[in-house]
Amino acid sequence: MTASLGLYGLGVMGSALALNILEKGFPLHVANRTAAKVPPFLEVAGPLAAKATGHDGLAAMAAAMTPPRAIILMVDAGPAVDAAIEALLPHLEAGDTIVDCGNADFHDTRRRSAEIEARGLTYLGVGVSGGEEGARHGPAIMAGGRPEAWAHLAPVFEAIAATYEGQPCAALMGPDGAGHFVKTVHNGIEYADMQLIAEVYGLLRHGQDKSPAEIGALFGRWDGGRLKSYLVEITAAVLSAVDPATGLPVVDVILDQAGQKGTGRWTVVEALALGQSASTIEAAVGARGWSAEKTTREVGERILGTERKPVELSEAELEGALLAGRIVAYAQGFRILQAASESYGWALDQARVAETWRAGCIIRSALLGDIAAAFRGEMPEGQLILAPAFAADLRASLPSLRRVVAAAALGGHPVPALSAALAFADTFAQGRGTTDLVQGQRDYFGRHGFVRLDTGAVHQHGPWADAPVDKVADPDPR
Ligand code: 6PG
Repeated sequence: MTASLGLYGLGVMGSALALNILEKGFPLHVANRTAAKVPPFLEVAGPLAAKATGHDGLAAMAAAMTPPRAIILMVDAGPAVDAAIEALLPHLEAGDTIVDCGNADFHDTRRRSAEIEARGLTYLGVGVSGGEEGARHGPAIMAGGRPEAWAHLAPVFEAIAATYEGQPCAALMGPDGAGHFVKTVHNGIEYADMQLIAEVYGLLRHGQDKSPAEIGALFGRWDGGRLKSYLVEITAAVLSAVDPATGLPVVDVILDQAGQKGTGRWTVVEALALGQSASTIEAAVGARGWSAEKTTREVGERILGTERKPVELSEAELEGALLAGRIVAYAQGFRILQAASESYGWALDQARVAETWRAGCIIRSALLGDIAAAFRGEMPEGQLILAPAFAADLRASLPSLRRVVAAAALGGHPVPALSAALAFADTFAQGRGTTDLVQGQRDYFGRHGFVRLDTGAVHQHGPWADAPVDKVADPDPR
C-alpha cells in the first residue's frame, strides 16, 4: 500500500474507523468540517495518535499528503458527500483516490464514480456495516470500484475488517455502485429481520403476557440455535435491560416510533424498479412509517378498538416462524442483488456477499455460511428458498409460520412482515396461481392479450368482444 491515507469526518463512525485504522498500524491524516473536533479526537486516540496527523480542513490535509493520496469520506450520505468532493477536487491529482465509506445511494455513487474517474482520479464506494463497535473493532466491508483501485487499498480494508475463520469480511463486490448497493440491501434485510423479531416479541408480550425479561431470556436461548445472530443476541440484551431512573424494563420507557434514514426504503424502491418485490422489507419499512403516526394510532385505538386477544403458540412455533421469516427476508434480498447484478452488469458473486456478511455486520447470523454454500451448490431457479438446505428448513418451519400468522390474525396482533413472508413462500410453493384471472380482467378492459395454456398461443383474447365494457351494466351504479 503506497498511497498516503486520509480520513475526513470525525463523527461517531468516522472516529471509530480512524482509530481502527491507526490501531492496525497505518499512518493516517485526519480532518473534520468543524476543525475544532480534531484535537479532541487526537486526545481520545491516546498513544494511537502517534501515527495520526490532524489538519484544519480538507485542503490542508490534501496539501500535506504525499501523492498518491487515498481520502476516506465519513460524512452523512447525500449533499455532504458532494460538498466534500467539490472541496477536495482542486487539491487532488491523477492517481489519487476518493473513498466514500458512508451509506450512499448507489445511484449517487455511480454518478460520482463516472464524474471523478473522468478526471483521471479513482473512486471507491464502500459500504461499512457494524455500527460504532464494528467500525472500531472490525466491520464488514462491501466495496464498489475498479479492481486495481481496490487492490491498492485492500490491505488497509482487510486489516481493519472483521474476520470469519481467519478470512477478512471485506471484498470488492463489483464496479462503481455495487458495494453501496450490496450495503443498501444488507440494510433492507436488517430492517426486515428487526421487524420480524419485533412481531414475535409482540405476540409474546401482548398475546402471552410475558415480561420483557422473560422474552429476553427466550431470545437468549434462541441465540444458541439456528436463529443465532447478532440481532437476536442484542434483542435479548435490550429486553433484559432495566431503566435505572424508573426501575422499568428499558423497552417500556421507549417511545414506539421507529426512525429510518432511507436505506430500507431504497431497497424496496430498487426492488420494484427491478421488477422484484421485497415484501418482507417493504413490510418493515411500512411498519416504521406507521409507527411514526403515533397520534393516529391512539385515535384509532379509541375508534376501532381492536382488542388484542391471547394467542396459544408454543416457543417452538414462534422460533420456527422467525426462522422461516428470516430465510424469506434473506431470499428476497439476494434476489434483488441478482436482479441488480443482471441489470447493471456487475457479475455479483452472491456466495461472496454472504461470506462478507458472516461477521462484523448487523445481519451476521448462523444462516450466512449455509447461504454461501447454497449459492455454490444446487439452487433451482437461482431462488434461495429452493436450495436443498433452505427448502428443508422451510418445509419444517412453514407450518409454524402459518400457525403463528393465523393466530396473530385471529388475535388482532399485526404481523406484517411474518404475513408477507408466508405469502411469498406460499406463492412460490404453487405452480398455478390466480393471475389467470388478472390476465382475463386486463384483456377484458384493455385487450392486453394473454397466453393460452392449451396451445401456448400468445396475444390471445377472450370471447368478450360481444360484451364490451361500455355495454355491461354497472353492478354498482353509485
Ligand atoms: C450498519 C447499519 C447502519 C445503520 C443503518 C440503519 O450496517 O451498521 O445498517 O448503517 O444502522 O443506516 O439506519 P436506520 O435504521 O436509521 O435507517
